[in-house]
Amino acid sequence: MDQVELEIPNFCIERNSIVKTKILSRLWSLSQERSLRILDVGCGNAEWLIPLLDNIKSIDYFGIEPGHSLVLQARINLPEHAHQIYQGRGEDISTMFHSSFDVIISRAVFEHVLNRDNFINSITRALLPGGTLLLTYGTNHFKEGLRTDVRNFVTAILARIGYDRYYASPVNRSYLMTSLQREGLQILEEKCYSLDDLKMAHKLISDPKISSTVLLNWLQIEDAINSNSSDHEKLETLTNEMYFEALKMESSKQ
Ligand SMILES: C[S@@+](CC[C@H](N)C(=O)[O-])C[C@H]1O[C@@H](n2cnc3c(N)ncnc32)[C@H](O)[C@@H]1O
Repeated sequence: MDQVELEIPNFCIERNSIVKTKILSRLWSLSQERSLRILDVGCGNAEWLIPLLDNIKSIDYFGIEPGHSLVLQARINLPEHAHQIYQGRGEDISTMFHSSFDVIISRAVFEHVLNRDNFINSITRALLPGGTLLLTYGTNHFKEGLRTDVRNFVTAILARIGYDRYYASPVNRSYLMTSLQREGLQILEEKCYSLDDLKMAHKLISDPKISSTVLLNWLQIEDAINSNSSDHEKLETLTNEMYFEALKMESSKQ
């Protein structure tokens, strides 16, 4: 799984993000094996999923998102799935959905979640045995020095008094991995993605076709760096987003 497949269809390439491209290409690849019931936890406006869902009709998409206006936008962006996009939190999946999912995706959400144990427990329970979790979290909110430290401190106080809309705090990677394993998931892939300078330099390419091709090369380079890096912690400080693919073991409790 280390090498990005260069033949992935164009609708899986998100020009601004190798992580979105990675997730879209994994969803596409899984959808080639069987029809999929997918839950997107913290879906936001779901805009980046439009090309994939327009092209793969066998994906039954569900979304959950706490922000009311984002839910409305997601319903407009994905009209065929609008009736399956709900307002709610990842922690509350079992109160909103009564059956389980083949795939759960959650991109750039976990760093904004206050009650992380409940969130992990909820998403893993919602996954079918043999199902796949594609989870990412951002690390870039926490690296910009004093101003963001102050902002994160203030948002943490607000979150503790019940207003968590702007909450963000660093994720403890090893705690997350232990929690996923404790819940019966096997971690298949873990990557630090989106090197700052490469990301900025890639934005300078204006030709969309060249930009897409270079993006796949960029993803390939970052995969190779991840596989061969001797210092994972250093790599984490140089990148913006952590990516995990995990498999719910068949023997796991539902
Ligand atoms: C950076 S956005 C990412 C949106 C989308 N996943 C994407 O990749 O474009 C983070 C999203 O997480 C949502 N969020 C925050 N806390 C959440 C929670 N406890 N459960 C589900 N979603 C949450 C926010 O409302 C926001 O839409």
